Parts: sequence; C-alpha cells; structure tokens
Amino acid sequence: SNSVLSVMELTKEPMTVVPKNYIRPDQELSAPSDYSTLTTIPTIDMKKLALGETSDLELEKLHSTCKAWGLIQLANHGVSSSLLEKLKHEIEEFFMLPSEEKMKYKARPGDVEGYGTIIRCNDQTLDWGDRNILEAYISELQKLAMTLLGYMGKALKIEIKEMEELFEDGMQSMRMNYYPPCPQPELVVGITPHSDATGITILHQINGVQGLQIKKDGVWIPVNFCSDSFVVNVGDVMEILSNGAFTSIEHRVTVNSDKERISLAMFFNPKLEAEIGPATSTLSPRNPPLFKRITMEDYVKDFFSRNLNGKSHLENMR
Ligand code: SIN
Ligand code: FE2
Repeated sequence: SNSVLSVMELTKEPMTVVPKNYIRPDQELSAPSDYSTLTTIPTIDMKKLALGETSDLELEKLHSTCKAWGLIQLANHGVSSSLLEKLKHEIEEFFMLPSEEKMKYKARPGDVEGYGTIIRCNDQTLDWGDRNILEAYISELQKLAMTLLGYMGKALKIEIKEMEELFEDGMQSMRMNYYPPCPQPELVVGITPHSDATGITILHQINGVQGLQIKKDGVWIPVNFCSDSFVVNVGDVMEILSNGAFTSIEHRVTVNSDKERISLAMFFNPKLEAEIGPATSTLSPRNPPLFKRITMEDYVKDFFSRNLNGKSHLENMR
C-alpha cells in the first residue's frame, strides 16, 4: 500500500520518535519480542506427504496443524536454495535503488501491479530487474501451492474435482513487504492484525529478519521462520471450505529498532467466478454449514471495502 512507501521515505531522515499517527495503543505491544526462544510451528514435510506409507500420518499432521495453528512450516518444499538466494539479491537490490528509481514503478490508482501495491501475476510480472528469477520463483510456487492445496483437500476428504474446479486457473497475486527499522518499535505495528482472504498464502522471509506474530488462543505468538523455509497461512477460503475445521489464522507484523525486514507473500485463491462455501464432505446432519455460499468476487470485494480488523470480515460470512 502507499503507506509502505511513505514509511520508507519517512525513515530516510534521522528520527528518534515515531510520528503520532503511527502509534498503536490498541495493539498490546510489549517489549520487543524475543524471536529466538519460540515455540516452533509444526513442520509439514512435502516429501513425506508424497510418499505412500508415511503419507497418512503426515496428512493427519497437516490436518491437525491447519486446525490448531492455521499456519504450517514447509520442509522439503523443492524450491532450491540457489533460487531463493538469487531472489534475495534481486529484491534487496531493488529496495536499495534510489527512491526516484523506485517511484518509476509506483502503481497509479487502478493499476494492478507496481511498487507499493498488490501485484497480479497470472499474466504479468513485475517490470524491474531480471524477470527470469522472479518468474522462476512464481512458477515454482504455483506448483507447490497446487500440490499443497491438493493435500489439504485430501485431508478434508474433499473431492479432487471440487478442489480443481475452485483453484485451477485461480487468482494469484504477490506482495512484497518492506518494514524499515523504527526508533520506537514497541509503539507501532508493521501490519495491523488480519486474516488473509485467500485459499492459502505462502510467505518467504527474504532477509532472515523475524517479525510475524499469530494470535493463538487469544495470545500473540512470535513465529520463527527458518531461513530457507516457507510459512503457509491457512486463509479464509480454506476455513470456509473446511466448514471451520481449518483455522484462518489472525496475524500481524512487529518491527524492530535496528533491522529492516523484507518479506514476500504469494496469495493463492479460487477464480473470481467460483462460489465458495463449506465442501460437501465436511457437512452432515451433525455438522450443518457454518458459512454462507458466496462468489469469490463478492468475498474479495467485501474484504477490500473494509479496514483490516482481525477476523471480523470472516465472521460476517457466517
Ligand atoms: C502479511 O500478512 O501479508 C505480511 C506477513 C509478513 O510480512 O510476514
Ligand atoms: Fe497476511
């Protein structure tokens, strides 16, 4: 969003206190979190999921983690560390460009791609640097996302056809987040609490700086990323499809005083015209539907018409 841009510009001048309009007394922010001593988010091993014998156990683990945490860490995801390394260089180079240069890529109102906005990547890619690396990353992640969505469907006993109808040629987008260092990190948030209005979101932490927190059982828990892993958020659409069996996790981002943080989020969604609602396999006389049926298009419209506010937009779909 444009505020990302302005914060970046803002922090170019030496600053010792944050401007008033960034202060967030609503956010129960305490001392900077210690990301080194954390509960680790359960890891799901993509290779084990693909293996015959152990896959049932891993599939059960996938199910229970999506339910209890709404967030998984992926191991053996198949994206090479050399590609991730190149991606990191590309992105860091871009952010180090002088702001006049970056502004050339600034999205104008109505644009779907550009610096400071959500970037659609079905038919277009970013227009800076060497396209190949980003393109390679996007195509690797598309494969990964489809495979993972397939396993999530399997864990929920959703017909493969039902999943394919929703997600094939689905809507995908990408957002790069840049969080500059902040002189008073205990007063601000990098991103206001929200859950993602997506099927799944695959997060990668570009420069290894931690900052993501999830709200679990009413408590904010810092998430410790392993450097070349991905963290996957269960989004609202999967909570709806699973009729509440999976949890679309509420999350926010904290910042710190000396390090910038860069993350890359890829969002995987059903196509706009698809109708989303609890899957047939999740319903029974004892499990009536907890959510209305709605088109993806209306869901997204509703999401973007509101301010980020925890999971309130999802509650509205009940
Ligand atoms: C987001 O919720 O889109 C940002 C997550 C992150 O920066 O880790
Ligand atoms: Fe998010």
